[in-house]
Amino acid sequence: MSNAKPIKHFLQISDFTRDEYDYLLERAALIKRKFKNYEIYHPLIDRTLVMVFEKNSTRTRLSFEAGMHQLGGAAIYLNTRDSQLGRGEPVEDAGQVMSRMCDIIMVRTFGQDIIERFAAHSRVPVINGLTNEHHPCQILADIFTYWEHRGSITGKTVAWVGDANNMLYSWLQAAEVFGFHVNVATPKGYEMDMSLVSTDRYTLFANPGDACAGADLVNTDVWTSMGYEEENAARLQAFAGYIVDGAKMARAKPDALFMHCLPAHRGEEVAAEVIDGPQSVVWDEAENRLHVQKALIEYLLLGRIDTQ
Ligand code: CP
Ligand code: NVA
Repeated sequence: MSNAKPIKHFLQISDFTRDEYDYLLERAALIKRKFKNYEIYHPLIDRTLVMVFEKNSTRTRLSFEAGMHQLGGAAIYLNTRDSQLGRGEPVEDAGQVMSRMCDIIMVRTFGQDIIERFAAHSRVPVINGLTNEHHPCQILADIFTYWEHRGSITGKTVAWVGDANNMLYSWLQAAEVFGFHVNVATPKGYEMDMSLVSTDRYTLFANPGDACAGADLVNTDVWTSMGYEEENAARLQAFAGYIVDGAKMARAKPDALFMHCLPAHRGEEVAAEVIDGPQSVVWDEAENRLHVQKALIEYLLLGRIDTQ
């Protein structure tokens, strides 16, 4: 029997407690201040992050790579096209090998089962950089962004308009951990997969405008997520009327924020007047990926650090 502490992974929002999130939010704020003040902070000298991408990325790659560099460590980028993963090496073997050479691993892949199998064979922490079912790093950034602008999200109402995708399932897990409510409006045929929902902190709306009524935060995402491209034409038809435009935003609270994880399609899921308007915080959301993930990596590798 080993006395070694079990390895902590971040594969979905429900993996951490509220107390851990409260620590991470404070820590991300401190790490962000250091960054803004050009203060060198290198707690991870000689540590290596490997990033495995089976889907495209701009923000996730950049924020993890820059973040690891800023913490004094190194980051290595692997993708399916030119690693052995693309030639059928079992994910269990990849987890074994990568975790013997690196200190922490981020994986962006298709099914959640893939990252779970990878993590089960890893000796080091594994972070979910997006799967079909979850996008926990983005939700961590979004909750941090809400907190910066409006304070705690506890007790608030988040409107979700659009596809029942990875972002929605992570929002619903966050609703359970943080104690907020989600108003969900998805088109017919694109409803939530209830096997991925383990909270009752949501209300379903047939009309997307009604879902926005009284919301503190309005959130949407692409109608066609990565991996579902062949459904694009059918989705464009099914999602007609689900654009977050000025009229829908006007039904939210006057001080409501608009968020979108990006990349966005103006004129499809969101109108330019909203995403480029005064209630939108999408650029803060994107930037905050950097700060929250630095706090996350630091926590997974070094544990809690006294505020300094
Ligand atoms: N929001 C997000 O994860 O963006 P990328 O796909 O560019 O990483
Ligand atoms: N739901 C989108 C998010 C992209 C960051 C996707 O999975 O493609």
